[in-house]
Amino acid sequence: MDHSTPRQHYDDLQQKIHFHNHCYHVLDAPVISDLEFDRLLAELKAIEAEHPEWVTAASPSQRAGAAPAERFEKVRHPRPILSLANAFGADDARAWFERIRKLDDRVETSAFVVEPKIDGLSVVLHYRDGVFVQGATRGDGEIGEDISANLRTVGAIPLRIPVQAVAGGPATMNRDQPGQLSIFKSPASPSTLSGLPAYLVVRGEAFLMIRDFEALNQRLEEAGEKTYLNPRNTAAGSLRQLDPAITAARPLTLLVYQVIHAQGGDVPGSQWETLEWLKALGFPVTNAARRFSDLESAIAYTETWAKRRDELGYEADGMVIKLDNLALSADLGFVGKDPRGAVAFKFPGREVTTSLKEIRVNVGRTGVLTPYAVLQPVEISGVIVERATLHNFDFISEKDIRTGDRVLVKRAGEVIPYVIGPVPGVRTGAERPYVPPATCPACRQPVEHFAGEVAWYCVNAACPAQLVRNIEHFVSRSALDIRGLGIKIVEQLIAEGLVQDVADLYTLQKEQLLELEGFADKKAENLIQAIRASANQPLQRLLTALGIRGVGEVVAADLARTFGSLDALAEASAEDLQTLEGIGPNIAAGIVDWFSRAQNQKVLEKLRAARVWPVSRQPSAVGGQQPGPLAGMAFVVTGTLPTLSREGAREFIEQHGGKVTDSVSKKTSYLLLGENPGSKLEKARTLGVEVIREDDLRRLCGLEKDAFGRPSK
Ligand code: IVH
Repeated sequence: MDHSTPRQHYDDLQQKIHFHNHCYHVLDAPVISDLEFDRLLAELKAIEAEHPEWVTAASPSQRAGAAPAERFEKVRHPRPILSLANAFGADDARAWFERIRKLDDRVETSAFVVEPKIDGLSVVLHYRDGVFVQGATRGDGEIGEDISANLRTVGAIPLRIPVQAVAGGPATMNRDQPGQLSIFKSPASPSTLSGLPAYLVVRGEAFLMIRDFEALNQRLEEAGEKTYLNPRNTAAGSLRQLDPAITAARPLTLLVYQVIHAQGGDVPGSQWETLEWLKALGFPVTNAARRFSDLESAIAYTETWAKRRDELGYEADGMVIKLDNLALSADLGFVGKDPRGAVAFKFPGREVTTSLKEIRVNVGRTGVLTPYAVLQPVEISGVIVERATLHNFDFISEKDIRTGDRVLVKRAGEVIPYVIGPVPGVRTGAERPYVPPATCPACRQPVEHFAGEVAWYCVNAACPAQLVRNIEHFVSRSALDIRGLGIKIVEQLIAEGLVQDVADLYTLQKEQLLELEGFADKKAENLIQAIRASANQPLQRLLTALGIRGVGEVVAADLARTFGSLDALAEASAEDLQTLEGIGPNIAAGIVDWFSRAQNQKVLEKLRAARVWPVSRQPSAVGGQQPGPLAGMAFVVTGTLPTLSREGAREFIEQHGGKVTDSVSKKTSYLLLGENPGSKLEKARTLGVEVIREDDLRRLCGLEKDAFGRPSK
């Protein structure tokens, strides 16, 4: 039994959410599922709806709640936010040391701290009595912009410090070196932290992990939207959005490394202790920092990271070598905006200029045309680069990139090399402006453009370039996962006329493969077996494999769950499809369009004949509903529900036999109402549709919950 007062319960819940947020975003080691987390947050919001007087800026519910701003207010930093002088190589670093040694001989005995120099956006975070109250950009170092509402959406930023452990805290993972255990085992208890300053201002770097950046771009590309150029631009662009909802949708994270200002409390006197202290308070801090007693060891450590910088998982353009003794560092002062007590030891450059010989166009699996640069081969940190992406046709015209131009190219980590822009100053007049193609370079069919998208498409389903990509995608890991069918073999199969669409894979005979170059008995047998086995993959994988525009793994799983078979999905209208969360009008239209094309219908018939026709076990079909207490009822959801997420509400209703649609009509049985409802409430009232709350819904199903969302006895 729970003896706590409602207020205590609310405070405990807040603490629990802060803690789990910390485990997820800072430690990379969640201890509960996303669903459980969503439930805790929903419970908190339900309590806040009853007790709006309890809500403060530090509540986890306040992360994404702010309305768009007109402009950013200016913020004066409590002291200048300094920059760093650069050192290019060990000798530069030694020269820096000599310079400061001459100024103050204490330098000779000081230790050094070495940290990654993150290529992100510098941010300044203010805490009053442990509560996050303001966040600003660096601006000119004196005055920045107030981006508090945006920073609040960044999960790695604690809204309240210290973050306190709740039972079952994890041993921590390390975001710099995934898989390694860090020194810090769990958030500190307040007793280990004496005298938290009443006012504390810290500085950190906001950025995106490279894998998150790439996943974001892939999502944008699949939706036909403009992709971001690099992780740094994405971080900067996302934080300078006037609408915090957009920032919230970007996978930003943060590492902190400096105390800018502290009032009414003690702060550590060394950089090393500062990092430890910040970590103990619950801030995300790099685990790649090390302390050394002499400069040569610090340089050696920096050089090891120059070789393995890609292992950081984010872009770093060097390591910062800092004097550990912060009082000494402060006494040394600065030159311009660069403090003398630290130096940025830059990694070898990853940007070079070379000439752009030609612009060619790649045809993607979905028919998207992507321009790329054919370059005069050039070495960038040990790799010869001959091709670089040009993102999209708008980018070429915005940057005025011309064939024959000298261009600046960057290759960073695992990111595909990309053209940054032209160097117009060295033009000779022989450069030629670029005109995008009107026809597909592979099949010569006219290209098409869809309203509201930046991409141009080849919509010819028989386009040979698309066929290669389609099959490549069809057999890929996240799709049907057919091992042993690499791109070379795909090209061979197409060139020999053995495969004209993905379904032809299933009629391939071993004898046919044996006639191809490089195939012996075993290899042919294995491939045939792998193809056969793929026929048993679940429906969601086949749906992903078909390469329908906008249907990635997540949407495919939803479609499989909802429709249960390709037959049912083929019958679905755009309206049916839009009842699914995450499917808007564009994706819905894309799906309907895909099934309406004769070419695709032919492929489907061939797949059916080859018995590649998985049916998902538990369809919760739109149209053909499950029996249950809600059978025959149509629901529309508006606002934030107390305990259920949107997806959770849909699942709940479908599990009980009902269906969920997107818009209120006369056919709607109930409007399920949450906090901050939209215009659907008006419409329901106008049409006389009955409005119910989550509790009523449970009652309709014969289940009940108490005011805190807990099942009552
Ligand atoms: S220390 C006095 N440490 O690099 C302290 N800066 O090019 C001066 N940066 O403006 C900064 N990672 O935005 C420091 N570990 C790190 C850093 C770092 C990234 C950025 C910072 C600074 C820029 C200088």
